[in-house]
Amino acid sequence: MSRRITASTRMSLVVGDPVRHSLSPALHNAAYLAADLDWVMLAMPGPVGSGASLVDLVRRHEVGGMAVTMPLKPEVAVAVDVLDPAAAALRSVNTVVPDAGGARGMSTDGDGFVASLRASGHDPAGTSVLVIGAGAASRSIIDALGRAGVRAIAVVNRTHSGAVEAAQFAPMALAVEHDQLDGAAASSNIIVNTTSVGMGQDAAGGASPLDVTLLRADHVVADIVYHPLQTALLAAAVSAGAATVDGLGMLVHQAALQCEAWTGVTPDVSVMRAAAEAELLARHG
Ligand code: ATR
Repeated sequence: MSRRITASTRMSLVVGDPVRHSLSPALHNAAYLAADLDWVMLAMPGPVGSGASLVDLVRRHEVGGMAVTMPLKPEVAVAVDVLDPAAAALRSVNTVVPDAGGARGMSTDGDGFVASLRASGHDPAGTSVLVIGAGAASRSIIDALGRAGVRAIAVVNRTHSGAVEAAQFAPMALAVEHDQLDGAAASSNIIVNTTSVGMGQDAAGGASPLDVTLLRADHVVADIVYHPLQTALLAAAVSAGAATVDGLGMLVHQAALQCEAWTGVTPDVSVMRAAAEAELLARHG
């Protein structure tokens, strides 16, 4: 399929610094094409300090939607006119939407993660979840799990103070000391790795954020690392008979929520996933 780009084609942007590694243009352009939407996405470098002027483009409806990556997420949260609840809680925006009232800031990462669990047949409602890591991705996931009806969230991080901070993002979340990780894994239904451990390493022999002999067939194991798609953690989970959700799940579903917010159209997530896989293959083989 090819497409026509004309003067009436709506423009969306992904902004950040660095931005040239972003998978967003591949995902969104594939979704636009498949849904026959007259939209395009381009990547634009957005160094620290450029957030307010970029938000202006959306506020004036010159840009139809903007995806925001680091380092702009916190400053864009200050520059927009309205914040959705997740973005307000996290003080971080990954999506800007032109609204009647100006520019609206959203944070779709956490809801994207929960959507990826549900799409794989694992509704987190009523479950106990172990979240390993306490960075920005962890906080957005904890915030979204807190609104998804989970029973309990145990947060474990290499640096315990980070876990204590991250656990503030959901009422049922509790920071657990790193030496209690094994017990927390044993008593959880869902285990989520939000750290970079395993990134860029072969599944065979790669590092795992927890002792993989603890994994059971009744666990659901999710990793947000998507290079490689099968991390050492996920490979061990498969060997243990557990269900797995790989890192493209969150990436694709958070992008689908962005597309829906900008265009009003629910995109085909399988098309977006295929585009992401093709792009990763082209880059890494
Ligand atoms: P992101 O924005 O992707 O969440 P981040 O904010 O840099 O990334 O957070 C990285 C997370 O991975 C942190 O929880 C970090 O632990 P610390 O808070 O102790 O730094 C965790 N992390 C990174 N490398 C790690 C490693 N080798 N072992 C354990 N945890 C690691």
